[in-house]
Amino acid sequence: MAVTIHDVAREAGVSVSTVSRALSGARRVGPEVAERVHEAARLVGYRHNAVARALRAQRTGVIGMIVPEISNPFFPAIVEAVERTLQESDRELMLCDARLSADVERRRIHALLGRQVDGLLISPVDSQASAEGLREAMRHTPVVQLDRYADQVRLDWVGVDDEAGMAHVVNHVRELGAQRIVLVSAGQQSSSGRDRLDALRRATASAGITECVELLGEFSIEWGESAARQLLAGGELPDALVCGNDEIAVGAIRELRRHGVAIPEQVMITGFDDIFIASYVEPALTTLRQPREAIATEAVRLLDARLADTDLPVRKLALEPELVVRESTVSSAEPE
Ligand code: RIB
Repeated sequence: MAVTIHDVAREAGVSVSTVSRALSGARRVGPEVAERVHEAARLVGYRHNAVARALRAQRTGVIGMIVPEISNPFFPAIVEAVERTLQESDRELMLCDARLSADVERRRIHALLGRQVDGLLISPVDSQASAEGLREAMRHTPVVQLDRYADQVRLDWVGVDDEAGMAHVVNHVRELGAQRIVLVSAGQQSSSGRDRLDALRRATASAGITECVELLGEFSIEWGESAARQLLAGGELPDALVCGNDEIAVGAIRELRRHGVAIPEQVMITGFDDIFIASYVEPALTTLRQPREAIATEAVRLLDARLADTDLPVRKLALEPELVVRESTVSSAEPE
């Protein structure tokens, strides 16, 4: 991985913003600190190239960020982690909500470019329809995808490892005796919806689970309620309901409990994300905790590396989620 300004800061024992000022010759840095920073840059082999220096000279100190749906509790949590990471290097965040529309997303990209952001972090709404807007953005500023990604664009990405996550969930319910699983998730428009579906299919196949039904809609509480009503109307509940995110799981739990279904005794339920409500819903939700802090830190690190050297090879980082076991699969689970 390329040496970045973060490595120089760590070596010199100063903040990233001090390194930036020292290397750009700003007068606000004392001679001894400047010398320490330059020595550290030499030691770690930091390439302070002319393009990066020119870009830095025109910097606004603002990073743009676009999320697909700010009303989904997963996204405020990831935004908060990114904002905190940027504060470490004295930078601000300008946030936009794509409202689940690739057209709105593209308008927000234009708005952020018009405000001269130094770079763009984005979780694209649609793995296909978002590609054109991203190609336009990367012609003007460094772009890093976090969480979701678009196909057919050569951009850095960091997000959760859906393959590992779904394997954790399937193995967990399989160990508890599940043979019949229903996946309730979003459709394949987003990379999250598509990759979770593919990952679940592979996980059930390798676990020898042959009965797996897929109910695909959207990442929402309403969809969880609707899918639960479909299952109740069908008269036969699965051993486990694997939900594509926590909102779906919350909706399914609410509807099943409204009809007197015992969870987990009659049906186990798992979620994905570990949003704040997951440990408060009744029964508390077994789910996959997304490594939000690491995703945020790595996204900013990838962006800074790209700012320093636009020719770096594209990197894709999939970070493993943690299975958090609660009462929606194990009634005796210790409350967190
Ligand atoms: O909750 C919505 C899902 O979409 C999350 O799991 C996150 O990965 C986002 O992409």
